[in-house]
Amino acid sequence: MSGLLAGKRLLVTGVITDASIAFSVAKLAQENGAQVVLTGYGRLSLVERIAKRLPEPAPVIEVDVTNTEHLAGLADRVREHVDGLDGVVHSIGFAPQSCLGGGFLDAPWEDVATALHVSTFSYKSLAMAALPLMSPGGAVVGLTFDATKAWPVYDWMGVAKAGLESASRYLALHLGKQGIRSNLVAAGPLRTIAAKSIPGFDQFEEVWAERAPLGWNLTDQEPAARACLALLSDWFPATTGEIVHVDGGYHAIGS
Ligand SMILES: NC(=O)c1ccc[n+]([C@@H]2O[C@H](COP(=O)([O-])OP(=O)(O)OC[C@H]3O[C@@H](n4cnc5c(N)ncnc54)[C@H](O)[C@@H]3O)[C@@H](O)[C@H]2O)c1
Repeated sequence: MSGLLAGKRLLVTGVITDASIAFSVAKLAQENGAQVVLTGYGRLSLVERIAKRLPEPAPVIEVDVTNTEHLAGLADRVREHVDGLDGVVHSIGFAPQSCLGGGFLDAPWEDVATALHVSTFSYKSLAMAALPLMSPGGAVVGLTFDATKAWPVYDWMGVAKAGLESASRYLALHLGKQGIRSNLVAAGPLRTIAAKSIPGFDQFEEVWAERAPLGWNLTDQEPAARACLALLSDWFPATTGEIVHVDGGYHAIGS
């Protein structure tokens, strides 16, 4: 087997359509020699259908990251397909509608708590659920949307992402002794189900494509996926707690 991830065994969460960032990660990973196990949430038959569109049909395990039983059983379910894991991809985000689209001042705690549970705390829960299968050299990679700024309409999801960025650094701290890395990719806006569920997200789109020094393609998930692959590979052996921007350079430019 050849390729950047030759022989690596990966758990990839977050596939719901073939536009999902996770779908591009799974596809590229297989093309680069990895064995992929997917997790699916909610509409499992849909995820299974999408999984068949990968170069190699991948098994799908049901995981709701807020369900403690799913998390407790994860390692055993993964072992039915692979004997260990070299990488885990967290490509999960959700916030109730009240938390998005300008509702920052009115969103109730119960909804904010859901956003933080699914989008922030789950990064740690997923990593811990997979940890029994991991060994030194392993990597956890997640997806963020630059949380150093307050964006219009992103609201509590922005807060959840700020928490995710911090959680990744703490995971790096606590898993470093075991030789396991934790890094994030900060992607620019991409037209996925998650993005479309944010009212007014299109505001980012034009401005991003116009201002990013390298330009920005809203329907090309591959640059973000490639960065995930690089971070999962052996080519970042001494990098952890890092955030790699894959945004056409937008974050570096003043407005
Ligand atoms: N699309 C963008 O513009 C963009 C930009 C930067 C970062 N991101 C991040 O990328 C990641 C992937 O999102 P995407 O844009 O590919 O959208 P997507 O809608 O394709 O993926 C989001 C995934 O989260 C899963 N999910 C939601 N609740 C879950 C739960 N309780 N348990 C398990 N899974 C659950 C969904 O099933 C879905 O597969 C998210 O963290 C998102 O915030 C997206």
